[in-house]
This record gives sequence, C-alpha cells and structure tokens, in this order.
Amino acid sequence: MKTKQFSRQDFQNAAEFIARNTHHRPRIGLVLGSGFGEFAEAIEDADIIPYADIPHFPRSTVEGHKGRLVIGRMEGQTIMVMQGRVHFYEGFSMEEVTFPIRVMRAFGVESLILTNAAGGLNPEFRTGDIMMIEDQINLLGLVGNNPLMGPNDPELGPRFPDMSTLYDRRMRELAVSVAAEIGLTLRRGVYVGLSGPAFETPAEVRMLRALGADATGMSTTNESLVARHGGMRVLGFSGITNEAIDAIDTPRVTSHEEVLETGKVLVPRMVGLLRGILRRWDEVA
Ligand code: HPA
Repeated sequence: MKTKQFSRQDFQNAAEFIARNTHHRPRIGLVLGSGFGEFAEAIEDADIIPYADIPHFPRSTVEGHKGRLVIGRMEGQTIMVMQGRVHFYEGFSMEEVTFPIRVMRAFGVESLILTNAAGGLNPEFRTGDIMMIEDQINLLGLVGNNPLMGPNDPELGPRFPDMSTLYDRRMRELAVSVAAEIGLTLRRGVYVGLSGPAFETPAEVRMLRALGADATGMSTTNESLVARHGGMRVLGFSGITNEAIDAIDTPRVTSHEEVLETGKVLVPRMVGLLRGILRRWDEVA
C-alpha cells in the first residue's frame, strides 16, 4: 500500500500555523478519545483551532469526536488538547492518523497523554473502570501496518526505535499516586490496538485475551509508537465502556451508543485523574 509520505516540512508548516494562532507554548499534549471531548471545555484562556484550518490535518468523521485543537491552561499547566482524533478505520492512512502527533512534536510538545474508549477483555474489569495502559500490542503493526514503515527521517527518530518501555515509568507512577489520592480505582493492563470498525467476535475476544491483552480498542497504539519514535514521553488511559462479549448467542450486543453512553459515566473519573496529574505535573516535569 503506497500512501502519501509527509515530510518534516509538512509537520513544521502545521506547527507554525498553530503557533501563529496561539500565544501558548505547551509542552504537554493530550488526545481525547470517544466520549471524553468534554474535558476540553474546562480549559482556561483557550485558543481553539479547528483541524480543518490546519495544513494537512486530518478531519474526524466519527460521532463523539469534535475535531479541534484546544490550547490553554489547566491546573496551572499549559496544554495542547486534541478534542477528537481520526482512526485507521475511517480510511485514513497510518501517516494521516499519526500526523497530529508529529505536529505536536514539531511544536515542542514533549509529553503525550493518550485516552480512548475500550472494551474490557480482563474478566475482572467492569464497565466504567479506567485502565492505565502499561504496555500495548499493536496488532495492526505486527501484521504490516506499522505507522513507522516507509522511509525514515533520522531527524524525527531512529529507524529501529526501542519499545521496551513505551509508556513512561515516572508518569505511570504519578498516575498511580494521583489515583490513590483522589480515591479512584485504577486498573492497569495491556491495550491491544485493532483496526475496527467492527467490534470483535467472541472468538476474537478469547484470542485477544489469550494474547495477554486486558482492553481492546481502535486507536492509540499508532499514536504512541510515533510519539515514542519522536522521543516523547507517553502515558495512556482506557475508559472501559463495555465488557467484551466472549460467547456467541448471548442476549448482549456491543454498540457505539453504549460506548458513548458509558463515556458519560467515565468523564468525571477521567477528568479527575487528568486534573490530578496536571496538578502534580512538576513531579515529572
Ligand atoms: N472493542 C473495540 N473497540 C472498542 C470497544 C470494544 O469492545 N469498546 C470501545 N471501543
């Protein structure tokens, strides 16, 4: 599959466009997944830039994804927030899916927090839980759809980046400490990234569990890889919006409506956690 290869100049141009439209210079980036867009509404002194205005930026087509950058302050930190993301299943190439991450990097963002809605695979997980991503399985990448495929620009990152610690240890420790402080039960586990858009069959759910995954979703793994390739520190959280169905012929079904509906229950929990992390950011800065 041959797709458009963006150059360093393209990332730079987009970053410069953003810089012309905000006086903020954030070092922290946050991607808000399905249902979590509301978090961005609380950002103070916000500059809002629709994705459609930014050169090359992909535009989200999915309900629950607003499609704009919100740059401002929260809990004393300056932050760049992606209110919605695009997905591979929408027909975007891996390059397009991860374009915003490279732009954030070019802008000067050093630490990235990724959030998503995910199905719980771990039988102990319940709808409404938040799982901190300790590690990931990029199933798409393993079978030939890795976002780092193609010519490598060594200015952006190494050809063969190490991924032994993809999710930053100190940031994870901070998240665990913040969760304890605010009385939030924080699950931890492995996120497996698939393409979607169909939800998994029960046989696939059992397979993913056997592979060692605790939660499954249709995003995040590509963004985290590209961020780490570019030397960013990465932290990730999955909001468990549904318990994956592991047997055929049950009365249950999985739906996007369910995902968005549970998202509402999860929002205050996710917001509390993210706010707490920003409040204590200096501990990992
Ligand atoms: N599977 C894949 N992606 C998802 C799910 C799921 O069960 N729930 C929310 N996103």
